[in-house]
Amino acid sequence: MTNDPDLSKAYGLQGPEASQKLYAAWADTYDTDFAAGMHYLAPQAVADCYAKISGASPVLDLGAGTGLLGQALVQHGITHVDGTDISPEMLEQAKKKGVYNRVFEGDLTGQLDVATGAYDGIVSSGTFTHGHVGPEAMAEVLRCMSHGAWAVLSVNAAHWDALGFAVTLNRLTPEIATWRKQAFALYGAGSTGPHAKDKGWLLQICTA
Ligand SMILES: C[S@@+](CC[C@H](N)C(=O)[O-])C[C@H]1O[C@@H](n2cnc3c(N)ncnc32)[C@H](O)[C@@H]1O
Repeated sequence: MTNDPDLSKAYGLQGPEASQKLYAAWADTYDTDFAAGMHYLAPQAVADCYAKISGASPVLDLGAGTGLLGQALVQHGITHVDGTDISPEMLEQAKKKGVYNRVFEGDLTGQLDVATGAYDGIVSSGTFTHGHVGPEAMAEVLRCMSHGAWAVLSVNAAHWDALGFAVTLNRLTPEIATWRKQAFALYGAGSTGPHAKDKGWLLQICTA
């Protein structure tokens, strides 16, 4: 069974506290009724893209949730993966997968408990979307990255347009050597509901 009512609620979230509340209730069933039920493709797409263009570690997974992206990275042989999320309940599920080196709570709309330049790569799936995190987090993402590191972030395409990600990225040019984006489907054939055909961008950023 798909969990589209929860996805619709997630898209309508407003602010970090609302996210914490919704994901606390969703953590136990997220992998089965949402990820499997909706044929959710973003974690694998981000991991495949990151492995192809970089594969460097340590890598930090932003909004790691239950750890689906960490699992996909490890299958590519990328073994030093850390994860951060605003929801302790989602991180508990991620820990159980046994693929993260370190998981820690953090709010991407503020400052993370990460030293400047600590990561040789950053990844994220499903977190830069409606009601979650927008382009305001980009400066903090860049702060966590070493020079010449790559980030691969999935961004919901409608969210990209609504919040002006391109404008923010172009403003950050001193810290960004290059950025590009590639279209992908967020959900696979067989997914149902109002969001089944939602599109995303695989945003790829290399720091200067
Ligand atoms: C749709 S889930 C994606 C989880 C996982 N990356 C995946 O692809 O399955 C979005 C995640 O973003 C987290 N999140 C929402 N707002 C956040 C914020 N301000 N800072 C950090 N994480 C946040 C949620 O707790 C949730 O785990």
